[in-house]
Amino acid sequence: MTHILAIDQGTTSSRAIIFDAGLRVVASAQEEFPQHYPASGWVEHDPSDLWSTVAGTARAAIEKAGIKATSIAAIGITNQRETTLIWDRATGEPIHRAIVWQDRRTADTCTALKDAGHEPMITARTGLLLDPYFSGTKIKWLLDHVPGARDRAKRGELAFGTVDTFLIWKLTGGRVHATDATNAARTLVYNIARGEWDAEICALLDIPMSLLPEVRDCAADYGTTRPDLFGREIPILGVAGDQQAATVGQACFAPGMMKSTYGTGCFALLNTGADMVPSKNRLLTTIAYRLNGQTTYALEGSIFIAGAVVQWLRDGLKIIREARETQPLADAADPAQDVVLVPAFTGLGAPYWRPDCRGAVYGLTRNSGPAELAKAALESVGYQTRDLLEAMRSDWGAAADGVLRVDGGMTASDWAMQFLSDILGAPVDRPVVTETTALGAAYLAGLQAGLCPPPAEFQSSWALQRRFTPHMDEATRRAKYARWGRAVAATMSV
Ligand code: G3P
Repeated sequence: MTHILAIDQGTTSSRAIIFDAGLRVVASAQEEFPQHYPASGWVEHDPSDLWSTVAGTARAAIEKAGIKATSIAAIGITNQRETTLIWDRATGEPIHRAIVWQDRRTADTCTALKDAGHEPMITARTGLLLDPYFSGTKIKWLLDHVPGARDRAKRGELAFGTVDTFLIWKLTGGRVHATDATNAARTLVYNIARGEWDAEICALLDIPMSLLPEVRDCAADYGTTRPDLFGREIPILGVAGDQQAATVGQACFAPGMMKSTYGTGCFALLNTGADMVPSKNRLLTTIAYRLNGQTTYALEGSIFIAGAVVQWLRDGLKIIREARETQPLADAADPAQDVVLVPAFTGLGAPYWRPDCRGAVYGLTRNSGPAELAKAALESVGYQTRDLLEAMRSDWGAAADGVLRVDGGMTASDWAMQFLSDILGAPVDRPVVTETTALGAAYLAGLQAGLCPPPAEFQSSWALQRRFTPHMDEATRRAKYARWGRAVAATMSV
């Protein structure tokens, strides 16, 4: 058995990638699925779409690779995090559509909990903040709003899971109800210092603990697939949330190493080793990975809109047909104009945490057009990343090595990566393999299967494709970043 199947269930699409034992991509398949917006600020996924696209792409990737299921040694799962599902343990039927991480419907619940003074206790135990982003208040919403749900939960009839847990349940035919430590760390009900579900927070949110899955290491035994799915039972041996899988795929195993992934949003993680570093700057403290029972922590900065700003240029403004048109358009922008876009389409994440805030554009003139907006859109991603890194430096400055490893669709844009390096005033490293999320999941599964080497050896196989170094002069950098700061402050005051 020489191959690994990585399942990457993301916010807008599901992907399956077959890796060989040397962790080279052999074949892949991808399928998008519908997003549901039942009310302003609400985002839902149909659980049957999540499952059918995962099963479909897994089968398609195996077929494209021209291999038999018998040559797949293990499956690794990585997933959009925080997205919340509850289903019936007997029938496997979800009680509602999945509430997606971007969904803001529990903003009032979070405000009420904050006003009642609960945030410091929750942050100390979970590393998270009281924001609708996380699963806890979404679980509470489901139990409060789906008729009979809380009683059924109390009777032990229901199961909660983030997307990994739901997929493990489906893949194993309901035999395994488990999650990994990184996904658990995003639920708001998991104590990351003690490594256990927190009874007091569950009581505060009125969440019966019988709903919760068992928490395992990222490289561990998660059972085997139903025999009818792939013609044989394949072991599931690796699980991690997508940003943590990317941290593994980027081989950020040493404290001080940092990666930033540019998908729908942007998520930067700084490895802080065995230290659980509390943030003074409203970053998140989270679990980077847990291997052999040993937890490695990270500081995380989460931005909700990164690649999604390019989607907005394409689907909202319709000024480009394809994402790759953004770069030439930005190049054509009038250098004399400094249009600033604050893409707070679904509120602002770290370090501001303002779910109520909405986007704004500053500095428009009669000559501002598609080119200036495209440039402002790409620059907004750089500015937001700098906000995160400023906060990280201030929380844990001395230990960070200052190099940012990047991955995700948007890193294909040289323009965006150069601006990122310019505005950070730091090197930005783009690796040869930018499929780092799937690679991380495959590595975890391969590690458990005995196919892949230990982290130190895997780290040395990480290869640089291009390093971007800053060209912008310090005065310009300072002036541009200060202008961004004023734009954000103005947006938050409206
Ligand atoms: O926390 C949300 C994150 O895991 C979603 O990632 O890549 O699906 O936008 P992505």
